Amino acid sequence: MAQTLIENIALLGGVDRKKLLRLQGEEMARFETIKNAYLLIEEGRIADFGSMTDLPPLNDTVCRIDAQGGMVLPSFCDSHTHLVNAGSREQEFVDKINGLSYAEIAKRGGGILNSADRLHEMTEDELYQLSMRRVDEVMLKGTGCLEIKSGYGLNTEDELKMLRVIRRIKETSPLKVVATFLGAHAVGRAYAGRQSAYVDLVVNEMIPAVASEGLADFIDVFCDEGFFTPQETAQILKAGAKHGMRGKIHGQELAPSGGVEVAVQHGALSVDHLESMTSEDIRLLHGSQTMPTALPGTSFFLNMPFAPARQMIASGLGLAIASDYNPGSTPSGDMKFVLSLACIKMRLQPSEALNAATINGAYAMGLSRDYGSMAVGKVANFFITHPLPSLSFIPYAYTTPIIRAVFLNGVLQASV
Ligand code: NIG
Ligand code: FE
Repeated sequence: MAQTLIENIALLGGVDRKKLLRLQGEEMARFETIKNAYLLIEEGRIADFGSMTDLPPLNDTVCRIDAQGGMVLPSFCDSHTHLVNAGSREQEFVDKINGLSYAEIAKRGGGILNSADRLHEMTEDELYQLSMRRVDEVMLKGTGCLEIKSGYGLNTEDELKMLRVIRRIKETSPLKVVATFLGAHAVGRAYAGRQSAYVDLVVNEMIPAVASEGLADFIDVFCDEGFFTPQETAQILKAGAKHGMRGKIHGQELAPSGGVEVAVQHGALSVDHLESMTSEDIRLLHGSQTMPTALPGTSFFLNMPFAPARQMIASGLGLAIASDYNPGSTPSGDMKFVLSLACIKMRLQPSEALNAATINGAYAMGLSRDYGSMAVGKVANFFITHPLPSLSFIPYAYTTPIIRAVFLNGVLQASV
């Protein structure tokens, strides 16, 4: 049996003996560690770990890798991205500097529709090549599980094109990828002024087409002021549920527009953004299976308020953080920077931010049985760092690269 031993690990982080599927409230501050540790991998999964002083005798065939006093941490689980897209939109960045808001740019036909126009012109192959470069980029930054949304197609053919690209990424990349259908990201140009007809198209044509090819694990709606209403969101979530797609909702980024309520009512796995969240929304999330997910990179880039993460955790809720990597509101998939923003701007403890970016991110993709922490039996997705003074150094040193080697499925992918 192929075994790999990582030895001389200064600190093994994310150790999980209870195998909880998500962490909530005070549990979030516990990011368990073992000093001077080893990690044993067998057939791509975690077989054992412990202190170097307790290392059991191993046979000669084991492949030994010296962590050289670096830390070993579970790979980031980025549960919200728009990584498949046709390219950057820095002109809008300049427009924002000149005073236009995200909503004003969208109203002018820029934003998501601009990305949809460009994606329409691209072949599936071009889109795949461009997107794989971004997948490699985030892998080198420590991401091991990745959610990718459609939503720049906005007609049936182009939505399917995006989802086929995501399927190809799933098949060819070592990352664990889940796909989310986001046909209701904006109203497609051909339906301008006919929003309910567009919702009918999503429900009656797109969802069955996506389901017939088995292209999506989840379904998303941009439920917000100026985009889709909670009623439309409910209609789309019900149609998705009929085809086995669970909700992961964009809600309450721009206004307190009912996104949390509709997500909880329909058993969505996550509700994401939450920059405009109220205390009533926090109450609604209690007792639900829905993981609130903050996207601090978006608040940073758009100069908007941050989601009330401290209040959520203090009230006993769990929290995931994700990058939202997309060309309009967050042109970065760097989860280490997301950790820093979570600590600096949302006042998370480093341990809480690490849990939010690993085990709770995995939960928000339905993957936390197999990913997101150091537990025996889980898939061996982790990275080895350079020697670091402490875990808090990671979000503190917000531009310092920390990763020395990336392992996915127990296999070395890259040494930096
Ligand atoms: O999550 N808010 C909606 N959608 C994306 C932005 C997409 C875009 O601007 O291209 C987001 O921020
Ligand atoms: Fe998003």
